[in-house]
Amino acid sequence: MPPRLLARTVLAAALFVAAGSAPLLRADDNARLATLSKLVRDDAPQVRLEAVRALATIHDARAADLALGVLDRPMDPTLDYALWLTINDLSDVWVAAFESGAWKSEGREKQLEFALKALRPELASRVLGRALAVHPLTRDGAGPWIELIGQAGSAHELRLVLDQTLAAGFDDAAGVRALRALGDAMRLRKLRPEGDPAGVTRLFDHANAGIREQAVRLAGAWKLPGVTARIGHLAGDDTTPMVRTAAIETLKQIGGKEAVAELTRLAALPRPEIQQPALAALASLDLPAAVPGLLGLASTLTDETQAQDFWRAILPVKGAGKILADSLKSRLDQGAKDLVAPGAARAGMRVAREGGRNDMELVIALARAAGLASDVQAFTGQLIRDLAAKATRQGDPIRGELVYRRDSLACMSCHAIGGAGGKVGPDMTSIGASAPVDYLVESVLLPNAKIKEGYAALMLTTRDGTEYTGTLARETPQEVVLRNAAGAEQAVPKADLAKREVASTSLMPAGLIDPLSEGDQLDLFAFLSRLGKPGDFDASKGGVARRWRLTQTVHTDAQAGQEDWPLKAGWEDRRWTPTYSLVKGGLPQPVLNEVLKSELWSSRLGVYAGTEITVAQAGPVHFQLTANPAAGLWVDGRRIGGAGASQVELSAGAHRVVVRLDPKQIPAFLRLESPDASFVLN
Ligand code: HEC
Repeated sequence: MPPRLLARTVLAAALFVAAGSAPLLRADDNARLATLSKLVRDDAPQVRLEAVRALATIHDARAADLALGVLDRPMDPTLDYALWLTINDLSDVWVAAFESGAWKSEGREKQLEFALKALRPELASRVLGRALAVHPLTRDGAGPWIELIGQAGSAHELRLVLDQTLAAGFDDAAGVRALRALGDAMRLRKLRPEGDPAGVTRLFDHANAGIREQAVRLAGAWKLPGVTARIGHLAGDDTTPMVRTAAIETLKQIGGKEAVAELTRLAALPRPEIQQPALAALASLDLPAAVPGLLGLASTLTDETQAQDFWRAILPVKGAGKILADSLKSRLDQGAKDLVAPGAARAGMRVAREGGRNDMELVIALARAAGLASDVQAFTGQLIRDLAAKATRQGDPIRGELVYRRDSLACMSCHAIGGAGGKVGPDMTSIGASAPVDYLVESVLLPNAKIKEGYAALMLTTRDGTEYTGTLARETPQEVVLRNAAGAEQAVPKADLAKREVASTSLMPAGLIDPLSEGDQLDLFAFLSRLGKPGDFDASKGGVARRWRLTQTVHTDAQAGQEDWPLKAGWEDRRWTPTYSLVKGGLPQPVLNEVLKSELWSSRLGVYAGTEITVAQAGPVHFQLTANPAAGLWVDGRRIGGAGASQVELSAGAHRVVVRLDPKQIPAFLRLESPDASFVLN
């Protein structure tokens, strides 16, 4: 520890010890508060930690207030725990200050939330009760109160929220939030509203799909009796996919004979979008019952991406890999043919080995079923060195980048370059400059041989037997959040955990590049080996757009008077297709064309490429757009220029930048730079 830091830490610790356990306010407490008010904002987390604990010895609401202020700085689990202890030590004075109005929550919602969660439930409930008396829940649900009740309210406040929702006392958006808050209370704290909550089933018919979805989820979470048939009905017939998905997941959660019957019925519907999730849910309730359906569906899947989703939904079910492998084997032994299409088998082989899973029996069974050579190759050190040498001699890194970008390999969904891309595996920005080529070859061919530090997969098993694997995204006292192989975050409540293990295998699937030709493999390795070296594969400098969303408008948009919707629509709009710049920063014409494959019959009116920036300080922002003269540059829906240099005054904060292209003149290369803004990467 540097001497100055040591001195400050010792000072904070000394203030702590000097106070001993004296419960009463002492004459020198004002002086100690003044000192600690600085230390609690210190740059060094150790000093903040000692200061937070020292504050616990000053029995005064100001001490609690100062301690909560530590939340404005970066937190870590130790600091979190220290603050939790301190708030508990000072709970009576803080609650008194809150109740008298001396401690105000406006603008300090984060602090209030922390304090509420730290307090004993009955105290938290008192504080919330008082807060609700001052700020009754409004129709639009303004303020943090709905969520706070979900996080820290007692059964009584939960009831208030439920009643107000049922009495149509919220608008739709607030209603969705209210139901979600009730769901959080159940999920994280196993707490439900007082009284009989069955009224929530009335919302199954609500006109708003978000409300129907949340109501169905709540009915399941609360295990309301007698709702299975109605939920089964929604699962098959609701007009909104989101509600159908929620209903299927809820049937799985409810479980029991009746749910199995509903899921069996749904799994037989000739509609893949229902059949597949229904089978996955059925598999987790009654695996043998699901097997015929699973094999039937597997034999119809030809699209590799769809097949991958299918396997990812099925294989986490405990025992599913084994039972499927056994059934495939016995059918093969009876001479059955065409059990699985090659693409679907390859996807299955990949998923069977990803995420810390290593289901070799299924891999071999799938390879046989699809007539693929079983790719259980043993790569010796010599083989790896040979491949590395060949890649260096013959590989074409420019072609290799296109291989790397293929959706079927999913490299980008797990790895980022220049900060853009997935976060499941390590960032690849400088891997070529820092690692020898044979290390790269080995990492890709045999991910399990050496697992990079900090990226080992965690395997969580919940009480209902579901397995989750992923790298640790973060952890709170209540839940573990994993980032799974698909890049999605999955929160698993600690209350549901049965087992937690570190996997001995990498989350990166083995055999990923087995389907590639040798030429493609060599190009890929050549590309990886150039990353971070000066030239076209150096992504270390910022100032250029790397994350894009592409879309196009067609005649029907114009007929609907919506020709310029891409200038306004949010990124969550499904009509945007996300993509990333090449490492050198920009989108070449083939990538633009590939992403925007349009239906032949629809002539395109406009092609749009959008990205997002954040501006740290209000002022002029300069852009440099590489495109062609037909291109226009729009910021926040306002045209500010075209190709070449342009400038606009922007406020601090996030802004949308959209480039409009003429579909008949797609530029050879599209690149957007700005020295004054940061481009949002994910
Ligand atoms: C499902 C997620 C996932 C996919 C898909 C994936 N990786 Fe990985 N990758 C990881 C994880 C996690 C690690 C770190 C653990 C390890 O060392 O195996 C990793 C490690 C690596 C490493 C070693 C990095 C280092 O710093 O040691 C390389 C190189 C690599 N991946 C390349 C690729 C390439 C090329 C592709 C596409 C063909 C790919 N990965 C696809 C998750 C993935």
